[in-house]
Amino acid sequence: MKIILTGMMGVGKTAVGRKLAEGMNISFLDLDEHIEKKACLKISEIFSRFGESRFRQMEREVCKELFLMNDVVISTGGRTLLDKKNLSVLASSGIIITLHCTPEKILSRIKNDRGQRPLLASNSKEALYRIYNEREPEYLKLPNKLDVTHLKPENVVGEIMKLINGEESRFEMIAGENRSSSLICRGIIDDIGTFLKNIYQDKKAFILSDKNVFSLYGKRLISGLHEADIQEDVFLLPPGERQKNLGVVKKIYAWLQEKDATRFSLFVSFGGGVISDIGGFAASTFHRGMKLVNIPTTLLSQVDASIGGKNAVNINEAKNQIGTFYFPEHVVIDPLFLTTLSHKQMQEGLIEALKAGVIADKDLFLLIKNHVPELMLKDLRLLEQVITRAVKVKSSVVTQDPYEKNTRATLNLGHTFGHALEGSYKYSHLSHAQAVGLGMICASKLGLLLNLTSEYFLPEFKEVLTRMKAPTQIKNMNASRILSLMQFDKKRKEGKISFIVPKKVGETLIIKDVNKKYILESLKEISHG
Ligand SMILES: NC(=O)c1ccc[n+]([C@@H]2O[C@H](COP(=O)([O-])OP(=O)(O)OC[C@H]3O[C@@H](n4cnc5c(N)ncnc54)[C@H](O)[C@@H]3O)[C@@H](O)[C@H]2O)c1
Repeated sequence: MKIILTGMMGVGKTAVGRKLAEGMNISFLDLDEHIEKKACLKISEIFSRFGESRFRQMEREVCKELFLMNDVVISTGGRTLLDKKNLSVLASSGIIITLHCTPEKILSRIKNDRGQRPLLASNSKEALYRIYNEREPEYLKLPNKLDVTHLKPENVVGEIMKLINGEESRFEMIAGENRSSSLICRGIIDDIGTFLKNIYQDKKAFILSDKNVFSLYGKRLISGLHEADIQEDVFLLPPGERQKNLGVVKKIYAWLQEKDATRFSLFVSFGGGVISDIGGFAASTFHRGMKLVNIPTTLLSQVDASIGGKNAVNINEAKNQIGTFYFPEHVVIDPLFLTTLSHKQMQEGLIEALKAGVIADKDLFLLIKNHVPELMLKDLRLLEQVITRAVKVKSSVVTQDPYEKNTRATLNLGHTFGHALEGSYKYSHLSHAQAVGLGMICASKLGLLLNLTSEYFLPEFKEVLTRMKAPTQIKNMNASRILSLMQFDKKRKEGKISFIVPKKVGETLIIKDVNKKYILESLKEISHG
């Protein structure tokens, strides 16, 4: 785990960082000290001899180095994360925690070390107030805020541990005789062995993962399992959508067979939506179905793919053509996995969560709309609210109609257009979620053309996508190819393609037998050039 402390000079980043690292038994790094060591000069000397810009350049170089470092608490300099490049590098590799404090308290804390703080060289109270007024609004945009004005370093450490460990919430999904339970809990990965041991008697888990996820979190998963005396057999795939095919599934069957797995064995899908789709399909068909646990590691899979019991693989360019309904007995969601996701991966998860909001939860839609920057920077409390609400929407829709005979189809909002778009770009130009986002735009346009959708919906929806920097238009679109790919869509019944359209935020409806001209007109809404 990597924890990055930020905030104004004097808020206590270094004192807190040292104590936190000690308590967690991981290393501590003070960014300013690290730069001083590398340059063999004090910060004040770097400033006076080479100027602030040289110092900032050194700071950027060090942030890039820190991207790869793990199990460390980093105390950053006062301005480090106000630089967009530093912020984007560090936000995709760890948890940023922002300490806030009143200027009066800061003054009292730093009164003895002005000599070491070049920006306060004028030695004046005014200088601090000026810097505070300039920077505090910027810190307020950063995630995971803690007011530490009245806290001693050891209490701040306590608050940070609370933030990292969080509370648990659970949701049950009932599909006929099957129960599928989702647990959301920060830090559960370290106790995964105990969690599984309390439910199953298995001494072994068959784990499917991808190479990225396993290199980041494999060790922690395995050590959690070993603590509960559970051994592992691991099958690793290269990452990416292209793995979702029957050839890969065949290799998984061969591995399970070689390792003597049976239908009583425990299968764990550990990764994003690609892994839970392939794993769910393999586990549901090997010996007519193994015990299945999903541990989703992307936001998209936590809010959508790993829950709900649908799995599938692709054939040729046609998406999700072969699959089953098979409910994982447990889905274990640890929001801390999200700390290593890139901006694009966060965007993709937020699009799927936004979809859940559009389908049935206006407050979820507004929560995302109003907090895009903090969510992108992984504010844990906000993210947990988003995950919890999205899981609740999906659990409730699936419980009503587990096998998609009727209302569950609403979860496919954006998918009829989206799947065809993905296929038409051969799964390489657009990610699944980006295609679903564009698909939701087309579905809303279709609703508008048919007088079913509120005129206020589409502009508001596009605005949220734009805030996420998600695509709202696409170049070189081949509309007739998209139309022909829609013919393969599973949502087609008696030769008619069905669409889900939003009426307004929180309400959707299913429509069938749409005239081709409306479909083509809707596609124009996202066509660029
Ligand atoms: N079955 C369903 O109900 C359902 C619903 C929605 C989407 N899906 C499917 O999900 C797939 C997309 O899922 P996805 O976006 O999670 O894709 P993914 O599984 O390919 O993961 C995206 C990338 O993130 C990496 N990754 C995963 N966890 C990480 C972490 N914690 N830190 C850093 N990197 C990490 C992966 O290695 C991969 O490179 C699509 O195939 C889609 O069809 C299925």
